[in-house]
Amino acid sequence: MQTKILQPNQEAIQYASRLLQEGELVGMPTETVYGLAANALDVQAVKKIFQAKGRPQDNPLIVHISRLDMLDQLVAKIPPVAKRLSERYWPGPLTMIFPRSEKVPLQVTAGLDTVAVRFPSHLVAQELISDSGLPLAAPSANLSGRPSPTTALHVYQDMNGKIPLILDGGECKVGVESTVVAVKGEDAKLLRPGGVTPEMLRECCGKLEIDDAVYHQLKEGEKAASPGMKYKHYSPKADVIILEGTLEQFKEYLARRKAKGAYALVFDGEEKDLNFPYLTYGATQEEQARELFAALRELDHRGAKTIYARCPEKTGVGLAVYNRLVRAAGFTILKL
Ligand code: TXA
Ligand code: MG
Repeated sequence: MQTKILQPNQEAIQYASRLLQEGELVGMPTETVYGLAANALDVQAVKKIFQAKGRPQDNPLIVHISRLDMLDQLVAKIPPVAKRLSERYWPGPLTMIFPRSEKVPLQVTAGLDTVAVRFPSHLVAQELISDSGLPLAAPSANLSGRPSPTTALHVYQDMNGKIPLILDGGECKVGVESTVVAVKGEDAKLLRPGGVTPEMLRECCGKLEIDDAVYHQLKEGEKAASPGMKYKHYSPKADVIILEGTLEQFKEYLARRKAKGAYALVFDGEEKDLNFPYLTYGATQEEQARELFAALRELDHRGAKTIYARCPEKTGVGLAVYNRLVRAAGFTILKL
């Protein structure tokens, strides 16, 4: 199959809508990362998503909507906290887990009795959902385990020959996947950190619990509240080692570590006197989120074998960057 990349003009959106209505997959830009979209109510189309990504069958998908009233056909109940969160942060990088309506196929939810729903703010995503008239199931459009795509070219690298079309909506503004929260009554539980930070969530909920899996590796046999959190994820081909400590300690450590294919992954402005092959990404937390996945792909491209990474902050959007990087590192963190 030939994979086309098209600018998202009206004609391209109509073409994409037709493909979706016929049960095909489309690479779709969103403000977080690119999604691999299919009609969420078409079991055969949803199966194609799992095939194209090589995704484990027990990892459920997020359903994307472009109007609040689309929620009614997808969920059995809307708790008060979800209403408040949706008023404040939708459209935007927030996914909520609801009790599933029977209309949503079990292939989407991987057999769970809950369904994840998101209202993206990217206009191309909204137009595609509205024009096709379909709720769209869409995981990140990477091969399973690889860093998520933040440009159309990244999607092409992973999906060339597997899907008919990618809509090029430019570089993703947030750059890490949406915040995922389970909602119940007045309270919420953070399952995956993202662009809507814990600080922002707290403004709209009673209690906010942070799931253990946000920071730590699940223990043998432990059940994941969000199945996606249990896999090694977002990984470049190289081994990633996170070094927790000051920049001075980081430099001292590297001085003893010169080897072929070893790279330092540092924040913009930290490259001075490094004396080590390096790549920088992002000075602020927001920039780090936007640039992390592209940096991991770039290090692959350069043939990196080992990546020594500075440790991101664990506050604000930094927590999302930390969460993705520790997974890319398979939880290898060295305290200096
Ligand atoms: O920003 C995003 O959320 C992107 C764009 C394309 O919208 N999508 C995305 O999808 O990141 P994916 O499939 O890569 O990640 C979905 C995450 C997984 O960790 C999955 O386990 C979790 O959401 N999830 C989905 N449905 C769930 C459910 N019913 N209960 C708990 N976790 C769920
Ligand atoms: Mg993903």
